[in-house]
Order: sequence, then C-alpha cells, then structure tokens
Amino acid sequence: MPYLRIGMVMCVLQLNGWGGDQGGLMSAYEDAFLVGAAINRNQVAGGEPKALNLAREHFNSVTPENDLKWEKVHPEPGQFNFGPGDRLVALAEANDWALIGHTLVWHQQTPDWVFQDEDGNLASAELLRERLKDHILTVAGRYRGKIHGWDVANEIFNDDGSWRESLWYTILGEEYLYLAFEYAQKADPSAELYYNDYNLWKASKREAVINLVQALRKRGLRIDAVGFQGHYGLDYPDLKDLEGSLKAMKMAKIPTMVTELDISLLPFPNADQRGADISLNFELQAHLNPYPDGLPPEMEKQLTKRYVSLFKLFNKYQDNMTRVTFWGITDNTTWRNNWPVHGRTDYPLLFDRNYQAKPAVEEVLKLSRN
Ligand code: G3I
Repeated sequence: MPYLRIGMVMCVLQLNGWGGDQGGLMSAYEDAFLVGAAINRNQVAGGEPKALNLAREHFNSVTPENDLKWEKVHPEPGQFNFGPGDRLVALAEANDWALIGHTLVWHQQTPDWVFQDEDGNLASAELLRERLKDHILTVAGRYRGKIHGWDVANEIFNDDGSWRESLWYTILGEEYLYLAFEYAQKADPSAELYYNDYNLWKASKREAVINLVQALRKRGLRIDAVGFQGHYGLDYPDLKDLEGSLKAMKMAKIPTMVTELDISLLPFPNADQRGADISLNFELQAHLNPYPDGLPPEMEKQLTKRYVSLFKLFNKYQDNMTRVTFWGITDNTTWRNNWPVHGRTDYPLLFDRNYQAKPAVEEVLKLSRN
C-alpha cells in the first residue's frame, strides 16, 4: 500500500509538471520538433562520456560540429578522411539520432587548393564545377541513406541580402548554389536538403533566402527547409524581428529549423558585427570577459528568461518548424568561448561545465507541458 501511495503522489506531481525532466528535452518536444545538439570529434570518440550521456538523454538529433566540413573530410585532392564521419554515423545509428550533415558548400573551412589550378592560379569554372560535383557525390554518396538532412549550402548571403563575394561566387556565379543542390539530391535522394545561415532575423537577408528557395523550386530542385543558425545574445535579436522572419517563411511555405542555437552572456565588442562571421577576432580585454570564475545568479536568471522567450516563439511556430539544435552540449566546449574574442568564459548553452542542467532546462520542459 505505501508503494501505491508514493506512486500516486509521483503521478500527481508529474501531471502538475514538477516531476523532473521526465526523459529530457527530446521527449518533451517529440510532438513539436526534433531537439538536437552539435557534437565534436572528442565526444564522438568517447572522450567526454558525461556529454554523451546528456546527448542520449536530451537529444534525438546531432550535427557534427566540424568533421564533415570540406577541410576535415577532403583535405587534399583525392584524399578523403572519413574516419570521424564513419564513427559518428555508427554512434547516431546506435542511439537512433537523426544525423545532420554539415556542410557541403561554405566559403570557410574550404582548402585553398579547391579554388586553384595546378599552377596555383584561380581555378576555371569548369574545374571548380568538377570539384564541387566530385566532393558532393563522394561525401554525400558515402553516407547515402544514413543522413537525415544535409546543410547543402551555408552562409552564401551578406546581411544586406547580396551574394557573398566568396571564391565560389567569383568563379561560378550564382550557379554554384544550384549545382550544389542538384548534386546533393543525386548523391542522397532520401536526405532532406537545407540552406543554412545566420542573422536571418534581418529582413534583407530573409528576403534573399526566400527568393533563393523560390528560384530553386522554379528550377525543379528540392529544398526541404531553411536553417536559422541562432547565435544570439540576451539583447539581440529583437524577438519581433525573429518572429517576422519565421512568419514570412511560413507564409512562403518554407519549413524552418533552428540549427545552431546558443545565447552568449558576454559583451559583443561591435554590435554591427553580431552574427557568426568566424573571421572576427577581437583582442581579449578584462571588460570583455566579466565572468571568468562563475556566473552571477542574476545572469543565470536572464539566460533562463531568454531561453523561455525563445522557446515560446518556437512553440508558436512549431507547425512550420522541424528541429531545434543547440550548437554544443555544454558550456566547456562551446565555440563562443573563442568567438569573437579568443579565450573567454561564456555560458550560452543549457548544460554547465559540470554537465548539470541549468535552471533554464526545467523551464523549457515546463513550457512543453503547457
Ligand atoms: O582540428 C584543428 C586542430 O588539429 C588544431 O590543433 C586546432 C588549432 O587551432 O584547430 C583545430 O581546428 C579548429 C576546429 O574548429 C576544430 O576544433 C579550427 O581551428 C577552428 O577554427 C574551428 O572552429 C569551428 C568553426 O565553425 C570554423 O569551422 C568551430 O568549432 C565551430 O563551432 C564553428 O561552427 C560554425 C558553423 O560551422 C557554421 N555557422 C557558424 C558556426 C560558429 O562559427
């Protein structure tokens, strides 16, 4: 009898939303969207078992933080490094994680040789087209049927909506983007295909992406969703702007995902450059690193509040949102410790340096129950 009573009390507590994390974020949001995290090579190799445990408890999707980028997987002509990718595929299969391929075409982390001919001059359009095709057919082809979705192209636009003057664009013009989607579809017909970018809350950039999706569709090319990276702060972006873009995508019948969510609690040296341009590198100064020894409770509260506001918005648009992925598992390995200033102590994720859930986790779980 006492067991029955304890069971009943626990049941009532759970119905009231006070029963702990009850299977974690992925279960709480299973009717809404996938919940994922970026995972790094060391974690995949088992070097951080507590981070893996958190991933197993809370996430049903993972994205390799670096290992499927061109420079990692295809460092030299004809030389592919599939070891880390293969290990991740096996881990994802064992854990039933929806695996996201990141990323096939980007202006960063692409070796110089890709854009050069044998003499070190700028590659011809023909040569670059051939290399793009070979890369996508080989990499996406190897993981055919094993990848839930590919970030086919990453960050091709400037914030004002113009095309980024990358070497891809200089040599091939807009064509490179259409080719990338064409090759990806050919390489793995069952994988979803995405376009991924930061600062999509800016109307100019959002419009450029909507136009791009329409242009792809007009050419008969498939694109399944647009990824909003989500490298945010406490005071940016204004959630009205973010909602404006989520709404515009929905109106244009373009499914959305949040693909790289984190909320920095540190000052950003130049507000105009907020986003995720990894070429930024400001000098480390004490005032830019205010919490090296721990987060004041007031800041913890602000982080919780910000996550709650964001998840309320995601919930509102869940019928057009397929996934929310955090860019990392815990604060100790987040890229935001090193960007846009190297060597800071930031606190942008839901799990702290001791692998403990922050107060924000319980609040985000509670939201799902409401
Ligand atoms: O692997 C080398 C290692 O061999 C070497 O000893 C070490 C020395 O610096 O560098 C290692 O490579 C680093 C790599 O991360 C793996 O740790 C690169 O220097 C470093 O630049 C790279 O940073 C990554 C960055 O993309 C550039 O690829 C971050 O971890 C990763 O979080 C970040 O992710 C991007 C997304 O792909 C696209 N959206 C923006 C997002 C944040 O910048």
